[in-house]
Amino acid sequence: LDNGLARTPPMGWNDWERFRCNIDCNNDPNNCIGEKLFRDMIDRIASGGYKDVGYEYVNLDDCWMSHERDENNRLTANSTRFPNGIKSLADYAHSKGLKLGIYEDYGLLTCAGYPGSLNYMDIDAQTFADWGIDYLKFDGCNSLPWTMDKGYPEMTRALNKTGRPIFYSCEWPLYQRAVLIKPNYNLIRENCNLWRNFDDINDSWDSVLSVINFYTNEQDKLIAAAGPGGWNDPDMLVIGDFGLSYDQSKSQMAMWSIFAAPLMMSADLRTISDEAKEILLNKEVIAVDQDALGKMGRRVISRGNIDVWCRPLVDGCYAVVFFNKAVGGGPSNVTVTLEEIGFTKTVEKYALRDLFLHRDLGNYNVRGTFVTSVNPTGVVMVTASPVKF
Ligand code: DGJ
Repeated sequence: LDNGLARTPPMGWNDWERFRCNIDCNNDPNNCIGEKLFRDMIDRIASGGYKDVGYEYVNLDDCWMSHERDENNRLTANSTRFPNGIKSLADYAHSKGLKLGIYEDYGLLTCAGYPGSLNYMDIDAQTFADWGIDYLKFDGCNSLPWTMDKGYPEMTRALNKTGRPIFYSCEWPLYQRAVLIKPNYNLIRENCNLWRNFDDINDSWDSVLSVINFYTNEQDKLIAAAGPGGWNDPDMLVIGDFGLSYDQSKSQMAMWSIFAAPLMMSADLRTISDEAKEILLNKEVIAVDQDALGKMGRRVISRGNIDVWCRPLVDGCYAVVFFNKAVGGGPSNVTVTLEEIGFTKTVEKYALRDLFLHRDLGNYNVRGTFVTSVNPTGVVMVTASPVKF
Protein backbone atom coordinates (compact mmCIF):
# COMPACT_ATOMS: atom_id res chain seq x y z
CA LEU A 1 0.00 0.00 0.00
CA ASP A 2 1.43 3.27 -1.16
CA ASN A 3 0.68 5.40 1.90
CA GLY A 4 4.28 6.27 2.74
CA LEU A 5 4.39 3.70 5.57
CA ALA A 6 6.07 0.30 5.91
CA ARG A 7 9.15 1.14 3.84
CA THR A 8 10.67 -1.60 6.00
CA PRO A 9 8.70 -4.19 8.04
CA PRO A 10 7.09 -2.79 11.21
CA MET A 11 8.61 -3.45 14.64
CA GLY A 12 6.78 -3.37 17.93
CA TRP A 13 4.72 -5.29 20.43
CA ASN A 14 1.24 -6.85 20.40
CA ASP A 15 -0.54 -8.30 23.42
CA TRP A 16 -2.35 -11.22 21.78
CA GLU A 17 -0.05 -14.23 21.88
CA ARG A 18 1.02 -13.64 25.47
CA PHE A 19 -2.05 -12.08 27.09
CA ARG A 20 -4.96 -13.23 24.86
CA CYS A 21 -8.42 -12.11 25.93
CA ASN A 22 -7.69 -11.83 29.64
CA ILE A 23 -10.33 -9.34 30.78
CA ASP A 24 -10.23 -10.25 34.47
CA CYS A 25 -8.81 -7.02 35.85
CA ASN A 26 -10.27 -7.69 39.29
CA ASN A 27 -8.22 -10.80 39.90
CA ASP A 28 -5.35 -10.20 37.51
CA PRO A 29 -4.85 -6.43 37.32
CA ASN A 30 -1.30 -6.61 35.97
CA ASN A 31 -2.01 -8.96 33.08
CA CYS A 32 -5.52 -8.13 31.92
CA ILE A 33 -6.20 -6.28 28.65
CA GLY A 34 -6.36 -2.81 30.16
CA GLU A 35 -4.59 0.47 30.48
CA LYS A 36 -1.98 -0.72 32.98
CA LEU A 37 -0.61 -3.50 30.77
CA PHE A 38 -0.15 -1.14 27.84
CA ARG A 39 1.38 1.65 29.93
CA ASP A 40 3.78 -0.88 31.43
CA MET A 41 4.82 -2.10 27.97
CA ILE A 42 5.16 1.44 26.62
CA ASP A 43 7.48 2.20 29.56
CA ARG A 44 9.56 -0.93 28.99
CA ILE A 45 9.86 -0.40 25.24
CA ALA A 46 10.76 3.27 25.67
CA SER A 47 13.36 2.77 28.39
CA GLY A 48 14.44 -0.88 28.16
CA GLY A 49 16.49 -0.52 24.98
CA TYR A 50 13.75 -1.73 22.60
CA LYS A 51 12.92 1.67 21.15
CA ASP A 52 16.62 2.33 20.55
CA VAL A 53 16.87 -0.64 18.17
CA GLY A 54 13.65 0.17 16.28
CA TYR A 55 10.65 -1.28 18.15
CA GLU A 56 8.04 1.42 17.76
CA TYR A 57 4.41 0.23 17.63
CA VAL A 58 2.56 -0.86 20.76
CA ASN A 59 -0.56 -2.62 19.55
CA LEU A 60 -3.83 -3.52 21.22
CA ASP A 61 -5.41 -6.71 19.91
CA ASP A 62 -8.92 -8.11 20.43
CA CYS A 63 -10.93 -7.47 23.63
CA TRP A 64 -10.18 -3.77 24.18
CA MET A 65 -13.74 -2.67 23.35
CA SER A 66 -17.00 -2.38 25.14
CA HIS A 67 -19.77 -4.52 23.70
CA GLU A 68 -21.91 -1.57 22.62
CA ARG A 69 -21.29 1.29 20.25
CA ASP A 70 -22.19 4.72 21.65
CA GLU A 71 -25.23 6.82 20.63
CA ASN A 72 -23.30 8.06 17.56
CA ASN A 73 -22.36 4.51 16.59
CA ARG A 74 -18.78 5.10 17.62
CA LEU A 75 -16.70 2.37 19.19
CA THR A 76 -15.74 2.85 22.81
CA ALA A 77 -13.12 1.15 24.94
CA ASN A 78 -14.21 -0.93 27.92
CA SER A 79 -14.46 1.84 30.50
CA THR A 80 -13.48 -0.28 33.49
CA ARG A 81 -10.32 -1.56 31.91
CA PHE A 82 -9.47 1.64 30.00
CA PRO A 83 -10.81 4.32 32.37
CA ASN A 84 -9.01 7.12 30.51
CA GLY A 85 -9.94 5.90 27.04
CA ILE A 86 -7.77 5.11 24.05
CA LYS A 87 -6.86 8.67 23.15
CA SER A 88 -5.03 9.16 26.42
CA LEU A 89 -3.13 5.91 25.84
CA ALA A 90 -2.14 7.09 22.36
CA ASP A 91 -1.02 10.42 23.86
CA TYR A 92 1.04 8.50 26.41
CA ALA A 93 2.69 6.36 23.70
CA HIS A 94 3.42 9.48 21.64
CA SER A 95 4.88 11.25 24.68
CA LYS A 96 7.43 8.42 24.86
CA GLY A 97 8.24 8.60 21.16
CA LEU A 98 6.21 5.46 20.37
CA LYS A 99 3.10 4.73 18.32
CA LEU A 100 -0.19 3.10 19.27
CA GLY A 101 -1.93 0.42 17.21
CA ILE A 102 -5.46 -0.90 17.53
CA TYR A 103 -7.47 -3.93 16.41
CA GLU A 104 -10.80 -4.30 14.66
CA ASP A 105 -12.50 -6.87 12.48
CA TYR A 106 -13.87 -6.70 8.94
CA GLY A 107 -16.93 -8.76 9.90
CA LEU A 108 -19.97 -8.43 12.11
CA LEU A 109 -18.08 -9.25 15.30
CA THR A 110 -14.43 -9.66 16.24
CA CYS A 111 -13.19 -13.20 16.90
CA ALA A 112 -13.84 -12.69 20.61
CA GLY A 113 -17.34 -11.34 19.97
CA TYR A 114 -16.92 -7.55 20.19
CA PRO A 115 -18.53 -5.24 17.61
CA GLY A 116 -16.97 -5.54 14.14
CA SER A 117 -16.60 -2.81 11.53
CA LEU A 118 -19.03 -4.18 8.96
CA ASN A 119 -21.23 -1.23 7.90
CA TYR A 120 -19.21 1.15 10.11
CA MET A 121 -15.86 1.39 8.36
CA ASP A 122 -15.90 5.16 7.80
CA ILE A 123 -16.99 5.90 11.36
CA ASP A 124 -14.42 3.51 12.82
CA ALA A 125 -11.54 4.81 10.70
CA GLN A 126 -12.42 8.35 11.76
CA THR A 127 -12.68 7.32 15.42
CA PHE A 128 -9.22 5.77 15.27
CA ALA A 129 -7.81 8.86 13.57
CA ASP A 130 -9.44 11.13 16.17
CA TRP A 131 -7.84 9.08 18.94
CA GLY A 132 -4.39 9.42 17.34
CA ILE A 133 -4.09 5.76 16.35
CA ASP A 134 -1.11 4.91 14.12
CA TYR A 135 -1.77 1.29 13.12
CA LEU A 136 -4.84 -0.85 12.49
CA LYS A 137 -4.86 -4.65 12.53
CA PHE A 138 -8.01 -5.68 10.68
CA ASP A 139 -9.09 -9.24 11.47
CA GLY A 140 -11.52 -11.33 9.42
CA CYS A 141 -13.69 -13.35 11.82
CA ASN A 142 -17.46 -13.52 11.32
CA SER A 143 -17.36 -12.36 7.73
CA LEU A 144 -17.63 -13.80 4.22
CA PRO A 145 -14.11 -14.32 2.80
CA TRP A 146 -15.29 -14.05 -0.83
CA THR A 147 -16.38 -10.45 -0.16
CA MET A 148 -12.92 -9.46 1.13
CA ASP A 149 -11.49 -8.42 -2.26
CA LYS A 150 -14.07 -5.64 -2.14
CA GLY A 151 -14.39 -5.18 1.62
CA TYR A 152 -10.78 -4.86 2.82
CA PRO A 153 -10.12 -2.06 0.25
CA GLU A 154 -13.12 -0.18 1.69
CA MET A 155 -11.18 0.17 4.91
CA THR A 156 -8.09 1.22 2.92
CA ARG A 157 -10.17 4.08 1.51
CA ALA A 158 -11.77 4.91 4.86
CA LEU A 159 -8.36 5.18 6.54
CA ASN A 160 -6.99 7.23 3.67
CA LYS A 161 -9.95 9.63 3.89
CA THR A 162 -9.10 10.50 7.49
CA GLY A 163 -5.85 12.13 6.34
CA ARG A 164 -3.96 10.50 9.21
CA PRO A 165 -1.21 8.06 8.18
CA ILE A 166 -2.42 4.76 9.65
CA PHE A 167 -0.48 1.56 9.02
CA TYR A 168 -2.95 -1.01 7.65
CA SER A 169 -2.42 -4.66 8.60
CA CYS A 170 -4.78 -7.17 6.96
CA GLU A 171 -5.74 -10.82 7.56
CA TRP A 172 -7.44 -11.09 4.19
CA PRO A 173 -5.34 -13.89 2.59
CA LEU A 174 -5.48 -16.05 5.74
CA TYR A 175 -9.29 -16.13 5.80
CA GLN A 176 -9.49 -16.65 2.03
CA ARG A 177 -7.05 -19.55 2.11
CA ALA A 178 -9.13 -21.17 4.85
CA VAL A 179 -12.02 -21.51 2.37
CA LEU A 180 -9.71 -22.41 -0.53
CA ILE A 181 -9.82 -19.05 -2.28
CA LYS A 182 -6.49 -18.18 -3.91
CA PRO A 183 -5.44 -14.81 -2.49
CA ASN A 184 -4.89 -12.09 -5.09
CA TYR A 185 -1.59 -10.77 -3.75
CA ASN A 186 -1.43 -7.91 -6.27
CA LEU A 187 -4.69 -6.52 -4.94
CA ILE A 188 -3.73 -7.24 -1.34
CA ARG A 189 -0.39 -5.48 -1.76
CA GLU A 190 -2.13 -2.48 -3.33
CA ASN A 191 -4.38 -2.14 -0.30
CA CYS A 192 -2.44 -3.29 2.77
CA ASN A 193 0.91 -2.61 4.41
CA LEU A 194 1.00 -6.12 5.86
CA TRP A 195 -0.97 -9.31 5.47
CA ARG A 196 -1.25 -12.50 7.50
CA ASN A 197 -1.36 -15.56 5.31
CA PHE A 198 -1.07 -18.45 7.77
CA ASP A 199 -2.45 -19.70 11.09
CA ASP A 200 -2.14 -17.89 14.41
CA ILE A 201 1.21 -18.47 16.05
CA ASN A 202 1.37 -20.30 19.36
CA ASP A 203 4.04 -20.53 22.00
CA SER A 204 5.65 -23.75 20.75
CA TRP A 205 8.37 -24.92 18.38
CA ASP A 206 5.77 -26.95 16.44
CA SER A 207 3.87 -23.79 15.74
CA VAL A 208 6.94 -21.78 14.71
CA LEU A 209 8.09 -24.65 12.50
CA SER A 210 4.68 -24.91 10.83
CA VAL A 211 4.93 -21.23 9.88
CA ILE A 212 8.46 -21.73 8.52
CA ASN A 213 7.27 -24.74 6.51
CA PHE A 214 4.38 -22.74 5.05
CA TYR A 215 6.75 -19.92 4.08
CA THR A 216 9.11 -22.47 2.51
CA ASN A 217 6.41 -24.14 0.44
CA GLU A 218 4.85 -20.88 -0.71
CA GLN A 219 8.06 -18.93 -1.17
CA ASP A 220 7.67 -18.05 -4.84
CA LYS A 221 4.31 -16.36 -4.29
CA LEU A 222 5.35 -14.72 -1.03
CA ILE A 223 8.67 -13.36 -2.33
CA ALA A 224 6.87 -11.82 -5.31
CA ALA A 225 4.35 -10.12 -3.04
CA ALA A 226 6.76 -8.55 -0.52
CA GLY A 227 8.61 -5.26 -0.82
CA PRO A 228 8.73 -1.72 0.53
CA GLY A 229 5.17 -0.64 1.36
CA GLY A 230 3.79 -4.16 1.93
CA TRP A 231 5.04 -7.32 3.65
CA ASN A 232 4.04 -10.89 4.46
CA ASP A 233 3.19 -11.42 8.12
CA PRO A 234 4.17 -14.79 9.66
CA ASP A 235 2.69 -13.46 12.94
CA MET A 236 4.22 -12.47 16.28
CA LEU A 237 7.58 -13.36 17.82
CA VAL A 238 7.08 -15.70 20.78
CA ILE A 239 10.67 -15.21 21.96
CA GLY A 240 10.68 -14.60 25.71
CA ASP A 241 7.53 -16.62 26.39
CA PHE A 242 7.43 -20.21 27.63
CA GLY A 243 7.70 -22.52 24.64
CA LEU A 244 11.00 -21.97 22.82
CA SER A 245 14.50 -23.04 23.80
CA TYR A 246 17.44 -20.64 23.44
CA ASP A 247 18.36 -22.08 20.04
CA GLN A 248 14.74 -22.03 18.86
CA SER A 249 14.40 -18.39 19.91
CA LYS A 250 17.41 -17.47 17.79
CA SER A 251 15.89 -19.49 14.94
CA GLN A 252 12.66 -17.52 15.05
CA MET A 253 14.52 -14.20 15.10
CA ALA A 254 16.79 -15.26 12.23
CA MET A 255 14.04 -16.71 10.03
CA TRP A 256 11.66 -13.77 10.55
CA SER A 257 14.48 -11.44 9.51
CA ILE A 258 15.23 -13.50 6.41
CA PHE A 259 11.47 -13.34 5.60
CA ALA A 260 11.48 -9.51 5.89
CA ALA A 261 8.75 -10.07 8.46
CA PRO A 262 7.36 -7.69 11.06
CA LEU A 263 9.19 -8.01 14.37
CA MET A 264 6.21 -7.86 16.71
CA MET A 265 7.11 -9.11 20.15
CA SER A 266 4.44 -10.67 22.33
CA ALA A 267 6.28 -11.33 25.57
CA ASP A 268 5.92 -9.87 29.04
CA LEU A 269 8.70 -7.30 28.90
CA ARG A 270 8.50 -6.82 32.70
CA THR A 271 9.74 -10.32 33.40
CA ILE A 272 11.58 -11.34 30.22
CA SER A 273 14.88 -13.21 30.64
CA ASP A 274 18.16 -11.51 29.74
CA GLU A 275 18.80 -14.25 27.18
CA ALA A 276 15.55 -13.64 25.31
CA LYS A 277 15.97 -9.90 25.54
CA GLU A 278 19.43 -10.10 24.03
CA ILE A 279 18.02 -12.00 21.05
CA LEU A 280 15.23 -9.46 20.54
CA LEU A 281 17.74 -6.61 20.75
CA ASN A 282 20.28 -8.15 18.35
CA LYS A 283 21.00 -5.14 16.16
CA GLU A 284 22.83 -7.09 13.50
CA VAL A 285 19.90 -9.43 12.92
CA ILE A 286 17.45 -6.52 13.06
CA ALA A 287 19.52 -4.75 10.37
CA VAL A 288 18.91 -7.72 8.07
CA ASP A 289 15.17 -7.58 8.76
CA GLN A 290 15.12 -3.86 8.09
CA ASP A 291 17.42 -3.91 5.05
CA ALA A 292 16.51 -1.14 2.62
CA LEU A 293 16.57 -3.33 -0.49
CA GLY A 294 13.37 -4.84 0.87
CA LYS A 295 13.71 -8.29 -0.69
CA MET A 296 12.39 -11.35 1.10
CA GLY A 297 14.86 -14.24 1.35
CA ARG A 298 14.60 -17.61 -0.33
CA ARG A 299 15.47 -21.17 0.61
CA VAL A 300 18.27 -21.97 -1.79
CA ILE A 301 19.52 -25.33 -0.54
CA SER A 302 17.76 -28.20 1.20
CA ARG A 303 20.06 -31.03 2.15
CA GLY A 304 18.91 -33.59 4.70
CA ASN A 305 17.84 -31.68 7.76
CA ILE A 306 19.67 -28.54 6.74
CA ASP A 307 17.99 -25.71 4.87
CA VAL A 308 20.03 -22.77 3.67
CA TRP A 309 18.22 -19.45 3.21
CA CYS A 310 19.66 -16.42 1.47
CA ARG A 311 18.40 -12.83 1.44
CA PRO A 312 20.01 -10.24 -0.86
CA LEU A 313 20.85 -6.98 0.91
CA VAL A 314 21.91 -3.51 -0.20
CA ASP A 315 25.41 -2.96 -1.65
CA GLY A 316 25.75 -6.51 -3.00
CA CYS A 317 25.66 -8.07 0.47
CA TYR A 318 23.76 -11.16 1.51
CA ALA A 319 22.32 -12.57 4.70
CA VAL A 320 22.43 -16.35 5.02
CA VAL A 321 20.75 -18.62 7.54
CA PHE A 322 21.77 -22.24 8.00
CA PHE A 323 18.78 -23.86 9.64
CA ASN A 324 18.89 -27.34 11.17
CA LYS A 325 15.41 -28.91 11.22
CA ALA A 326 16.56 -31.99 13.15
CA VAL A 327 14.77 -32.38 16.47
CA GLY A 328 17.29 -34.79 17.96
CA GLY A 329 20.96 -35.64 18.04
CA GLY A 330 23.82 -33.18 18.14
CA PRO A 331 25.02 -30.33 15.94
CA SER A 332 25.21 -31.01 12.19
CA ASN A 333 28.13 -29.96 10.04
CA VAL A 334 27.33 -28.15 6.81
CA THR A 335 29.69 -27.52 3.92
CA VAL A 336 28.63 -25.22 1.08
CA THR A 337 30.28 -23.06 -1.52
CA LEU A 338 29.18 -19.45 -1.67
CA GLU A 339 28.35 -19.72 -5.34
CA GLU A 340 25.91 -22.55 -4.68
CA ILE A 341 24.08 -20.29 -2.20
CA GLY A 342 23.66 -17.95 -5.17
CA PHE A 343 26.22 -15.21 -4.51
CA THR A 344 27.23 -13.17 -7.54
CA LYS A 345 30.29 -14.79 -9.05
CA THR A 346 31.65 -11.53 -10.42
CA VAL A 347 32.73 -10.83 -6.86
CA GLU A 348 35.74 -12.94 -6.00
CA LYS A 349 35.79 -12.68 -2.23
CA TYR A 350 33.25 -12.11 0.49
CA ALA A 351 33.84 -11.14 4.12
CA LEU A 352 31.64 -13.25 6.38
CA ARG A 353 30.37 -12.28 9.80
CA ASP A 354 28.41 -14.33 12.36
CA LEU A 355 25.44 -12.28 13.60
CA PHE A 356 24.85 -14.15 16.85
CA LEU A 357 28.51 -14.51 17.84
CA HIS A 358 29.14 -10.93 16.63
CA ARG A 359 32.39 -12.13 15.12
CA ASP A 360 34.11 -11.66 11.76
CA LEU A 361 34.80 -15.04 10.20
CA GLY A 362 37.32 -13.88 7.57
CA ASN A 363 37.31 -13.65 3.78
CA TYR A 364 36.01 -16.46 1.61
CA ASN A 365 36.47 -17.08 -2.08
CA VAL A 366 33.13 -17.29 -3.92
CA ARG A 367 34.10 -20.74 -5.23
CA GLY A 368 35.60 -21.86 -1.96
CA THR A 369 33.76 -23.74 0.76
CA PHE A 370 32.30 -22.51 4.01
CA VAL A 371 31.91 -24.99 6.84
CA THR A 372 29.76 -24.49 9.91
CA SER A 373 28.02 -26.49 12.60
CA VAL A 374 24.34 -25.98 13.44
CA ASN A 375 22.52 -27.14 16.57
CA PRO A 376 19.25 -29.11 16.25
CA THR A 377 16.30 -26.69 15.80
CA GLY A 378 18.92 -23.95 15.67
CA VAL A 379 20.54 -21.63 13.19
CA VAL A 380 23.82 -20.09 12.20
CA MET A 381 23.30 -16.67 10.66
CA VAL A 382 25.93 -14.79 8.72
CA THR A 383 26.18 -11.78 6.46
CA ALA A 384 28.51 -11.67 3.49
CA SER A 385 29.91 -8.42 2.08
CA PRO A 386 31.93 -8.13 -1.14
CA VAL A 387 35.60 -7.55 -0.41
CA LYS A 388 36.84 -4.62 -2.49
CA PHE A 389 40.43 -4.53 -3.61
C1 DGJ B 1 -7.31 -14.07 15.04
C2 DGJ B 1 -6.01 -13.41 14.66
O1 DGJ B 1 -5.39 -14.13 13.63
C3 DGJ B 1 -5.14 -13.31 15.90
O2 DGJ B 1 -3.89 -12.78 15.55
C4 DGJ B 1 -5.83 -12.49 16.94
O3 DGJ B 1 -5.98 -11.17 16.48
C5 DGJ B 1 -7.18 -13.10 17.28
N1 DGJ B 1 -7.98 -13.33 16.08
C6 DGJ B 1 -7.96 -12.21 18.21
O4 DGJ B 1 -9.25 -12.64 18.42
